[in-house]
Amino acid sequence: MGVFVSSDGTDAAGHEQVVFCQDRHTGLKAIIGIYSTALGPALGGTRFYPYESEEAALTDVLNLSRGMAYKNALAGLDLGGGKAVIWGDPGQVKSEALLRAYGRFVESLNGRYYTACDVGTYVPDMDVIARETRYVTGRSLEHGGAGDSSILTAWGVFQGMRAAAEHTWGSPTLAGRRVGVAGLGKVGKYLAGHLIEDGASVVATDVNEAALEWARTTYPQIDLVADTQTLITSDIDVYAPCALGGALDDDTVPALRAKVVTGGANNQLAHPGIEKLLEERGILYTPDYVVNAGGVIQVADEIEGFNFERAKLRATRIFDTTGQILRLADDEGVPPAVAADRLAERRMAEVGRLRSIFLG
Ligand SMILES: NC(=O)c1ccc[n+]([C@@H]2O[C@H](COP(=O)([O-])OP(=O)(O)OC[C@H]3O[C@@H](n4cnc5c(N)ncnc54)[C@H](O)[C@@H]3O)[C@@H](O)[C@H]2O)c1
Repeated sequence: MGVFVSSDGTDAAGHEQVVFCQDRHTGLKAIIGIYSTALGPALGGTRFYPYESEEAALTDVLNLSRGMAYKNALAGLDLGGGKAVIWGDPGQVKSEALLRAYGRFVESLNGRYYTACDVGTYVPDMDVIARETRYVTGRSLEHGGAGDSSILTAWGVFQGMRAAAEHTWGSPTLAGRRVGVAGLGKVGKYLAGHLIEDGASVVATDVNEAALEWARTTYPQIDLVADTQTLITSDIDVYAPCALGGALDDDTVPALRAKVVTGGANNQLAHPGIEKLLEERGILYTPDYVVNAGGVIQVADEIEGFNFERAKLRATRIFDTTGQILRLADDEGVPPAVAADRLAERRMAEVGRLRSIFLG
């Protein structure tokens, strides 16, 4: 994938800035991708992963940083989109010195990019990086951090699901509905709790025995089924993918019995075109990056000095944003995934353009 938009405008990348960072002594090889700062400094996590090649690392950071721009725009944040990758096996090469070297490169961008946790990086790593740069979120509670971001991720998913319920059945509640949760991890567990409290019945699955045991003891009313295939072909109203990406593909969508898909997992659509397949089957899909933005809302709040109630209020607005996207999709005759992209692009263009008003 190229970085520059080609003259015919066909390249999907079009990033503002891509920074390659190297420190030979610690073995640091990192790429920071800044897709857009139209709405403010770019925010997105650092993925620490043993990519097969430099090209694979670049492709990932370009895709992820672009995705963050859209997610942050629809989360209503005054933040642009960015992401970073550190190329290497964290189990082998992660060290204090490497993380601090990385922190110095983040600092060198003077606040154009804020980092956070992602696959392979954790809260204690952010505390180490913060010894070299001010531009870090996702820090520990004792350092003013937001703590476990899955709390507001699940809250936001629940709000998105309420909006989908209102659109589909006329009332913003899951009471009396049967919701299938695939993956009872950090997000799935909190989501199951909100659903039960709202009066839904929950059927769930997980590959991890500890997660199943948690369900048996905490919520014995949850029906546990053997696997995701059984879950999606059972009599459910809503399917909530909360495990890995690619949950909606050419095999699962034709088998789905749910009328609504709303879940916490990232990148639920296995490939472009699946959103049309869902629409053809009359299944309402709320775009993943819209409904799972509660986590980024939670960590972004650290920039102002973390306040959980304020962050929760912002995550609650995912209900309004999801409703707005579903109405726009109806009005424009496009799938919600397309409507969401349009709304994000509109906000980036309209608010970003305000910088052209000279302030002296
Ligand atoms: N944690 C957050 O704040 C956050 C924010 C945005 C998006 N997400 C996304 O939400 C999803 C879940 O995140 P999480 O933090 O809860 O992760 P997690 O690792 O805590 O939970 C994932 C759960 O899914 C289960 N699982 C894995 N494969 C499965 C399968 N084939 N069938 C059923 N269950 C399976 C795992 O055993 C685990 O319990 C991920 O896609 C993540 O990228 C998380």
